[in-house]
Amino acid sequence: MNFETLAIHAGQEPDPNNGAVMTPVYFTSTYMQDGVGKPRQGYEYSRTMNPTRKALQDCLAALEGGHFGLAFASGLAATDTILRLLSANAHVLAGSDVYGGTFRLFDKVLRRFNLDFTFADTTDPESVAEALTPSTRLVWLETPTNPYLRITDIRAVAEIVHAHENKPLLVVDNTFATPYLQRPLELGADIVVHSMTKYLGGHSDVVAGAVIVKDKELAEKLYFLQNAVGAVLGPMDAFLVLRGIKTLHLRMDRHFENAIAIVEFLEKHPKVEKIIYPFHPSHPGHKIAKQQMKNGGGMISFIMKGGRDAAIKMVEATRIFILAESLGGVESLIEVPAAMTHLSVAGSQLDVDPALVRLSVGIENKGDLIEDIKQALDKA
Ligand SMILES: Cc1ncc(COP(=O)(O)O)c(C=O)c1O
Repeated sequence: MNFETLAIHAGQEPDPNNGAVMTPVYFTSTYMQDGVGKPRQGYEYSRTMNPTRKALQDCLAALEGGHFGLAFASGLAATDTILRLLSANAHVLAGSDVYGGTFRLFDKVLRRFNLDFTFADTTDPESVAEALTPSTRLVWLETPTNPYLRITDIRAVAEIVHAHENKPLLVVDNTFATPYLQRPLELGADIVVHSMTKYLGGHSDVVAGAVIVKDKELAEKLYFLQNAVGAVLGPMDAFLVLRGIKTLHLRMDRHFENAIAIVEFLEKHPKVEKIIYPFHPSHPGHKIAKQQMKNGGGMISFIMKGGRDAAIKMVEATRIFILAESLGGVESLIEVPAAMTHLSVAGSQLDVDPALVRLSVGIENKGDLIEDIKQALDKA
């Protein structure tokens, strides 16, 4: 089946008890057993598995071209569970431009458990090759990144990582692209991770995370950790994400259509110093982006002339674009990462230009969105 059909049907059968077309929200913590150690349909306790969560997990696996999906209470809970595959003294190589919360978890929390992290520019596969050590067990990358939208060639990095003697696991955070635009498992990644809080949920109403893999042995280790650690997604949240996913393809195409119109407007605007968009010819990762992504997505960053003050004035003047953190919802959002989402990484190697404005372009009318940006730029 094709993506659009899978987005609506994968993992979801009409309810066998009553034919309900939509997957019910199974609000139950436990399940009756037919005899001691004889759970009726394999369900024993909802931390271990819940039918609503299972429907979502199976849907995610199908969309990413994997065989196994796991849903977590947040993107960072998913990340934390993956890192628990490792033992003390393992080395992790991560992209130097990963999401600030991922960096914080690695640098401020997991280092205390004797995991060793280095951060390298994964957009250059040679730097990945140079940064691998005999202890490297996991390589973590994001593409496109947040907020510079840097592009890493997943296939090239996968080849380098898998040629290494330890066979480290390659993890790709696919939050910005979604499986509609990019499928890292098909390009050689071992694990895909998502903040489903963003495009997969798509309506800014839920916090959730996902992990998808192809390999059965790896999946078994992750299911063990999901149950043993317990950072699982609740059934109501699983339902909300399932519902969001049904329109993922429509939303992503519309995010792109609107984003392209805004890019064309911004590139000619005298107050804009530089535009950053993966499908724009000026983007250094443009060629790779076009190879591995179906379209350029809905995230745009741009640098304002006039520095921090101009950027802040501009984002405070929009009327439709809402000044808020997060991204990937149907509504357009705007922010200044250096002063908002990326404040926690100020002064580190992840430091962001204070004049950089990030747009999460929604699916409203593109003319209205351009008018809004125009009037806000006039005020900056
Ligand atoms: C690329 C990326 N990965 C992971 C996360 C973390 O996800 P969550 O906020 O759902 O924990 C985020 C959140 O902004 C993100 O942008």
